[in-house]
Amino acid sequence: MAFLLLMVMLTACAASPRDLSGKMFTFPQQTNTAHVRLTTSRQDFSAVTVCHRSFTDLKRDHALFSLATPSNQNEFLIFWSETNKEIHPHIRQGKTEYGGWDYKPNTWHSICTTWDSASGLVQLWFDGQPSTRRFISSGSNITGSPVIVLGQEQDSLGGGFDIKQSFVGMMTDVHMWNYVLSSCEIHNYVDELNFTPGNVLNWRALDFKITGKVLVEDQLIVCHS
Ligand SMILES: *[C@@H]1O[C@H](CO)[C@@H](O)[C@H](O)[C@H]1NC(C)=O
Repeated sequence: MAFLLLMVMLTACAASPRDLSGKMFTFPQQTNTAHVRLTTSRQDFSAVTVCHRSFTDLKRDHALFSLATPSNQNEFLIFWSETNKEIHPHIRQGKTEYGGWDYKPNTWHSICTTWDSASGLVQLWFDGQPSTRRFISSGSNITGSPVIVLGQEQDSLGGGFDIKQSFVGMMTDVHMWNYVLSSCEIHNYVDELNFTPGNVLNWRALDFKITGKVLVEDQLIVCHS
């Protein structure tokens, strides 16, 4: 009996991946606590692609994707800088600024970021438009157990959130791969066609834990009458 109970408890505690197809996370409130933590068993990345779609009307800085490791809280961070109207990818110890995008409020935007440690090059794809390929950091992997957070920016491993950098809005279709996607694959993602789901984070089999007020809701379907 005690064994059965233990088994039930273990099953309840083990995060089982959930298929979030057609769903989105809604971050309805500005806080320094509400967030979603995404779990992967993988570590040691020599290359990365991260894609996500988001919708917001924030008029201030905010984090879109925050991956920290024990050695660096901005190991892989995608950040909107309102002052400069730029997207800042931080990767390893490096950072770059990409401007000139039409980051319109109240619109879904797809953002994919790729990086490869061999060349050290980063590239960002905003709604399918490629950025300049820039050098950011080469020669070493992203290593150590990653802590991946949506909705907040980590200033320490899994914490150190700043309300003024929190995300308010909706986010969906978050995927992460341990390789650089080809431009065709990125367009398939952006156009919501068939693509190989992330092998590090997969929206269709996502291990996640919500803290605070974040909702899983159906994606908004545009109604044509
Ligand atoms: C970097 O990561 C790749 C893929 O995980 C691995 O094969 C390689 O050994 C790593 N390189 C170093 C220097 O740790």
